[in-house]
Amino acid sequence: MKLCMIGTGYVGLVSGACFSDLGNDVICVDRDLTKIEDLKKGIIPIYEPGLDELVLKNYRNKRLRFSINLKDSIAKSDIIFICVGTPTKKKSNAADLSQIFNVAKEIRASISKFKIIITKSTVPVTTGDQIEKIISQKVSNKLFSVVSNPEFLREGEAIRDFIYPDRVVIGTNHNKSNKILKDLYSPLISKGAKYINTSRRAAELIKYASNAFLATKITFINELANLCEKIDVNVDNISIGMGLDKRIGGRFLRAGPAYGGSCFPKDTRALAKTADKFHIDLSVIKSVIKSNENRSSLLLKRVFNLLKGKVKNKKICFLGVTFKANTDDMRDSSCLTMIPPLIKKGAVINYFDPTGKKNEFKKFKNVNFSKNINSAIKDSDLIIIHTEWNDFKSINFKREVQNKKFIIFDMRNIYSSTKMKELKIKYFGVGC
Ligand SMILES: NC(=O)c1ccc[n+]([C@@H]2O[C@H](COP(=O)([O-])OP(=O)(O)OC[C@H]3O[C@@H](n4cnc5c(N)ncnc54)[C@H](O)[C@@H]3O)[C@@H](O)[C@H]2O)c1
Repeated sequence: MKLCMIGTGYVGLVSGACFSDLGNDVICVDRDLTKIEDLKKGIIPIYEPGLDELVLKNYRNKRLRFSINLKDSIAKSDIIFICVGTPTKKKSNAADLSQIFNVAKEIRASISKFKIIITKSTVPVTTGDQIEKIISQKVSNKLFSVVSNPEFLREGEAIRDFIYPDRVVIGTNHNKSNKILKDLYSPLISKGAKYINTSRRAAELIKYASNAFLATKITFINELANLCEKIDVNVDNISIGMGLDKRIGGRFLRAGPAYGGSCFPKDTRALAKTADKFHIDLSVIKSVIKSNENRSSLLLKRVFNLLKGKVKNKKICFLGVTFKANTDDMRDSSCLTMIPPLIKKGAVINYFDPTGKKNEFKKFKNVNFSKNINSAIKDSDLIIIHTEWNDFKSINFKREVQNKKFIIFDMRNIYSSTKMKELKIKYFGVGC
C-alpha cells in the first residue's frame, strides 16, 4: 500500500519505518528541512533502539522515502497518517490542535482521488469530526474518510510495540476504510494483535483513557510509597504482592519519580479539560494530575533532608535525566523540575545520560555534563539515580566515588538496600 506519514517524529518515523519494513511504500514528510535532509543522509534524529537499522534498510531498498513536499507526498499516497504533535496549549490545559488543523487544511488542498486520512496523533474526542468538517469545506465527502487509529507505542520499546501491539484500534464507520486498514495491519493481526473496530470518537477516547489509567497506576503506587516510608515497609513488596493479582497486573506499578514524557502529563490534562467542556468532572484524573505535580517537590524535600538542609556547594550527580530509560526524550522529565531549585540553593549538578548532553541545561551555569558514569559520580556528595538505564545497574560506587561520605538516593530502587548496608553505603530508595 502507498502510505504517507505527516510528521516524522517519534510516532511518524517509527510507524513509517515499521510499515515500510512490512512491505508498504512509505513517504515520511516533515516541515523540518534539517530533519529530512539528515534522514536522507542516514542520520536518525531520535534515540530509539533498533530504529537506525530499520530506517537505513528500508531507505536503501526504496520502500521508505523522506520529503518536505506535503502536496506531492499526499498525491502519491492512498493512506495519509497524521502524526504531528498535540502539546498542551500555553495558557490552558487543553490540547493545542493547531498542527492537526493546519495539516487538515494542507491535505484538503491536495486531494484528487480517494484517500483515507488517519489521526495517529493523540487527539481529544470529536477532533476527527472537526478534521472531516475542515476537509469537506473544499472536497467531496466521497473522496475521503477520516479515521482514528491511535498509537500505543512506548518510547524505548517503540519498534517492538509497533510490530507486536496488544491491539490495533480503528475508529471508523466507513466499511471500505475498515477493510483496507484491516489488510494493512494483517501482518500484525496474524502475529496475535487484536483488531478492534469502533466508532471514531470511541477510538479517540480509548487512547486518552488508556494513558490516564496508566498514569493513575503510577500515581497510586507513588502515593503508597509515601506511606511505606513512614511505616518501615518496602513499597516494592507491595507492588509485587498487588501486581501478581491478574486483575491488577504488575506493570506501571513501580514507585519512582513523577511520571513525565511527551504523553502522560499532556494527555491527562487534555482529557480532564475535554470532560470539563462536556460538564463532566473527571475528579480521579484531576487528583492524579495534582498528585503527580506535587511528586517532584516531595522528592526534592527528601533530597534536602538527606543533605540535612546544607545544599550550598554540594556536588549532586544525576544519573539519567530523560523521563525514562532507552529514550533521549526530555519532554516533561521530572529532573527539569528538580534541578533548578537545587542550583538556586547553591548545589553544583553533574549529570550523565547515555543519550548525551542536553540542551535543556545550557542556560544553567552550574549544570555540567560528564562523558561517562565514573567521572560523573567521582566527586559527588549525593548521587541521584533518576532513570532506570541498564548502564546504572552494576556500578562499583565504593571504588569510583572519591568522597567517602557520599549518599545515594535511588529514585528507581535499582539496588538492594541490604547489599548497600553490607557495603556500608548510605543508600536511600523510594517507598522504603
Ligand atoms: N512519543 C510517543 O511515545 C507517542 C506515543 C503515542 C502517541 N503519541 C502521539 O503522537 C503524536 C506525535 O508525537 P511525537 O512524539 O511523534 O511528536 P514529535 O514532536 O516527535 O513529532 C512531530 C513532528 O511533526 C512535525 N510537523 C508538525 N507540523 C507539521 C506539518 N504541518 N507538516 C509536516 N510535519 C509537521 C514536526 O516537525 C515534528 O517533527 C502526538 O499527538 C503524541 O501525543 C506519541
